[in-house]
Parts: sequence; structure tokens; C-alpha cells
Amino acid sequence: MSEEFEPRVIAFCCQYCAYSAADMAGSMRLQYPSNVEIVLIPCTGRFDVILALKAFESGADGVYVAGCLEGNCHFLDGNIRAKKRVAYLRKELESIGLEPDRLAMYNLSASQGPRFAEIVKEFSDIVTGLGPSPMKKILAA
Ligand code: FES
Repeated sequence: MSEEFEPRVIAFCCQYCAYSAADMAGSMRLQYPSNVEIVLIPCTGRFDVILALKAFESGADGVYVAGCLEGNCHFLDGNIRAKKRVAYLRKELESIGLEPDRLAMYNLSASQGPRFAEIVKEFSDIVTGLGPSPMKKILAA
């Protein structure tokens, strides 16, 4: 794998916890890969299969969903529904030629800025190891 490959990562972050944690990471000037594009969503319960597929179709090499800690969703069970959707879609990704590890879900609290930075690095490393999304070749053909 080329060392120059820098994956494009799209992170769907709920406004209450994950997005606030991202904000905190920024305020704390924590270093993390700049290849993550954060998409603010009201709650991870709004995340669905179509959003993920559109992200991959738009050229993302990896997609993750980040929401509140389990039991702390501001819409009660949005993050549990998102967890189920992510688990379902991870199984289905192989059928369209994508590795399941290109999709993940994380939970964190608004005060976990350092954890947000870790997640970006951790997920970016996983996707870097997988290489460019095969969907890019399919769409370019
Ligand atoms: Fe954060 Fe629902 S409000 S996951």
C-alpha cells in the first residue's frame, strides 16, 4: 500500500455529544488527522443506510457514526437504533465489494475531546490499512 494514501473519512456526529467532543478537541488544540469531514446530525438515530451509501458513493474511504454514550442519547434510544443499523450495514457492505471495517460506530461524551481525537486517528489508521475504497474504481469505470 502506498504510504501516501490519505483516506477520506466522513464522520456523522450527533450534535449533543460527539460534535461537542470534536469542538472540545479543537479548543484543546489536539492533533488529529485532518482527513475527517464532520457531518453534524441531530442524533445518531437519524443515521441510516442511505446516508452511509451516499457517503461511500461520494468518495469516502471510510465512514463512522459517533454519538452519545449508551443510555445518554438525548432522544432516548437513537444511538441504539444507529448501532443496529451500523451492524446491519457492516454485514451488507461485503455484498457490494466493501470491507465491513470501512464503517464503524463510536460512543463518547461531550467532555471527551481527547477521545474524539483518538477515534479519528484510530479509524483513519484502520482505513489507511484497507487502502482506497474499491467503490471509487467501480464508479470511475
Ligand atoms: Fe447523541 Fe442521540 S443525541 S446519539
